[in-house]
Amino acid sequence: MTKLEHSSLENKSKNENQNLPSLRKILVIGSGGRENSLAWAFGKCPGIEKVFVAPGNGGTEDFQRCVPLNILENESQSLIKHCIDNQIDLVVIGPEVPLSKGLADDFRENGIIVFGPGAIGAQLEASKKWAKTLMEEANVPTARYWAVTNKDEALRVVNSHQKPLVVKADGLAAGKGGIVPETLEETKKAIEHLFAGKFGSAGKEIVLEEKLSGPEVSIFALSDGQSFILLPPAQDHKRLKEGDLGPNTGGMGAYAPANLLTKKDLENISQDIIKPTLNHLKSRNIDYRGVIYAGLMLTINGPKVIEFNCRFGDPECQALMPLMGNEFAEVIFACALGKLSKAPNLSISSNFSACVVAAANGYPDNPRKGDPITISIPKDSSLKVFQAGTSYNSEGQLITDGGRVLSVVCEDKNFDKAFEKVYAGLKQIKFPGIIYRNDIGHQVRRSNKTSDL
Ligand code: AMP
Ligand code: GLY
Repeated sequence: MTKLEHSSLENKSKNENQNLPSLRKILVIGSGGRENSLAWAFGKCPGIEKVFVAPGNGGTEDFQRCVPLNILENESQSLIKHCIDNQIDLVVIGPEVPLSKGLADDFRENGIIVFGPGAIGAQLEASKKWAKTLMEEANVPTARYWAVTNKDEALRVVNSHQKPLVVKADGLAAGKGGIVPETLEETKKAIEHLFAGKFGSAGKEIVLEEKLSGPEVSIFALSDGQSFILLPPAQDHKRLKEGDLGPNTGGMGAYAPANLLTKKDLENISQDIIKPTLNHLKSRNIDYRGVIYAGLMLTINGPKVIEFNCRFGDPECQALMPLMGNEFAEVIFACALGKLSKAPNLSISSNFSACVVAAANGYPDNPRKGDPITISIPKDSSLKVFQAGTSYNSEGQLITDGGRVLSVVCEDKNFDKAFEKVYAGLKQIKFPGIIYRNDIGHQVRRSNKTSDL
């Protein structure tokens, strides 16, 4: 286990070792694999009595102290009432949509402690243009961009640039609002599509970006608004098919730490990307308490930000949670309180963690629901099954109920062993039409590169 120290923006905070308020009850908001893994990680921390998950999924009750709560993420008044009636100490908001709609603000206005930025901070993910402007002002390395509001303007940029440009809807589009064309013609077609309303109001404005190339890596900083700590870097696999082919998905598998980066690289990313971003949020009076997730591309000119997100990645979160020490709940609580300097240092396992997602037949376009699932992995196995698109039918049978159905996660000191165990585990999971990639982690197996992380 290594211990992570906090990186303060004002160089003032060492671990002051003063007590935080007591933390017994947590409410996690969301229904995905990310929230299932967060609930599991909180439920095993000392002192935690109960972790509610609203609305949760078929796997919520698999874990100690975890309880589903039948309230949807947009029912803020009912969620607030539950927190008050049940003396919830901490709310953790998983997905970007409720964050961008101001759910964290609603909780804070009612005196409830919450991990997750308010609506303004969540613009980091909810508006590409807002995020790009911030990066420009904060001097954060990113692709050159042009924000445009109509087709003629967009075509003028493309014609003067004479190279394919990446085309992105400004607003949230469930990870599908970005098109990466190979040719000028494809760029123009993507512009037509977006302005024709392909992503509804998310595509009213678009951002054109210089096309970068290089491996991608996901960086997660936990921030209390003043300082932050970095978690181990992770790598996602966004394409549906082996060899990184096929359509984009929410993510088909991940691993951490990603050995694409050395300790020194990570320090540079902290200094050149996360610190100026948080500083700039601060200078705009945004008290950002939550995750800053930087999706980076490692270009020949150094790491550049492809996108910021305002929450944990899914499935990166499922890969990261088994590496977190028992201080995790307190560290998240300290961020929510704006008192990260008072949290214990977070211990991180030095193992590799491997995560492979099993999706439903027809994913990503038209996932089939209602297929019966059998999981024959014993509960005391070293494998973890984090459920996502699952529920129980009226006969008490676990069934598929979404695109990404579940993920299998395992840690081991050996990278290949971790994946071998995950794939052996997947063979013990059955549902009609199950889809998963057999090559998650292929970049590492090919590169032979070692890391000092
Ligand atoms: P985004 O729409 O920002 O979530 O990006 C989705 C995916 O598109 C990323 O994971 C990259 O693989 C790719 N991508 C986004 N922006 C760029 C860019 N400027 N250059 C090359 N690829 C990009
Ligand atoms: N794994 C990609 C995302 O969560 O957006």
